[in-house]
Amino acid sequence: MAMASATAAAHPNLALVKYWGQVDPVLHIPANSSISVNLSGATTTTSVTFDAQLPADEVVLNGQPAEAPAQRRVSTHLDRIRDLAGVQSCARVVSENDFPTAVGIASSASAFAALSLAGSRAAGLHLGKRELSVLARKGSGSAARSIPGGFVMWTAGQEDTGSYAYQIAPQDHWDLRIVTIAFRAQPKEVSSLEGHRAAPTSPFYEARLRTVGITLDVVRRALLQRDLSALGMAAEREAMSLHAVAMTSRPDKQPWMSGIYYMEPETLRVIRAVQQWRQEGLPVYFSLDAGPAVHLLCEPAHLDDVTTALGALFEPRELWVMVSRPGRGAWVVENNLDPAA
Ligand code: DP6
Repeated sequence: MAMASATAAAHPNLALVKYWGQVDPVLHIPANSSISVNLSGATTTTSVTFDAQLPADEVVLNGQPAEAPAQRRVSTHLDRIRDLAGVQSCARVVSENDFPTAVGIASSASAFAALSLAGSRAAGLHLGKRELSVLARKGSGSAARSIPGGFVMWTAGQEDTGSYAYQIAPQDHWDLRIVTIAFRAQPKEVSSLEGHRAAPTSPFYEARLRTVGITLDVVRRALLQRDLSALGMAAEREAMSLHAVAMTSRPDKQPWMSGIYYMEPETLRVIRAVQQWRQEGLPVYFSLDAGPAVHLLCEPAHLDDVTTALGALFEPRELWVMVSRPGRGAWVVENNLDPAA
């Protein structure tokens, strides 16, 4: 019986310059380039076993059989890997997050990065970083950025093979801390798929795309120079630019929504507090994703002050906090190729 398996792991990433809007929604070719940092505090670990005996792909996520849409999305991604490798067998996929899925931390980046690496290795492929990033992108755009380590640029590109992420500085370039704050009892979000699709309906979308080139330059330079205030200010305006577009765009599946609101009252409470903390001399900056969670950026020397200040703002049971450093890129945990396969 021919069986081959591999296990790989990957971190999610935080975009400092966001991916919002696509020129090709099928291939996930983004409207603009983006910059991110991998989050060491969270990991997805995924095993893929190609097994000629299986009648269909099997997908188990965090100990539960995947629901139909997730199952289809994983199977479609396995098809991409089977096409590349010339493999016919179905596969068993077992994936675990070491962080609670319910708190709304985007996990499609770490999920598709780990699946791409494990799946390609199990299929006997040794893809280079760039090919792997292209493959991961087709599962979920932001997954392209979880393949390289440390600080990463995803170059938008014009076509499939030109749209991939690469490292701009290694993870030990800058000993930053990223404090991710998620709140309990998440309402159901508008998916990033719908958000990307709705973005061009915002009158501010074109303005965003006109200025994002400057933001990319500013953020890249601030990262290379380890200039936290330059990075932080640009990252905050950039996060609000995504939200300004989202709040003024029209989701076609939710005609009762005049715009897409990802923030919750808690989100705004943190944002306002961060500005006040800075006024009082604490150098800390925020970023947001397409959800109510907030990410705070600071130097290690200020981490205790940041967590203490946060503790004064919320009851411990109201929030979930994760502290990350810049994380490594996706890595192979185990690879067993059947010599007879
Ligand atoms: C707000 O990567 O989830 O996190 O390509 O449709 O899977 P798909 O979208 P996804 O979009 C992420 C959007 C974001 C910003 C970012 O990560 O750059």
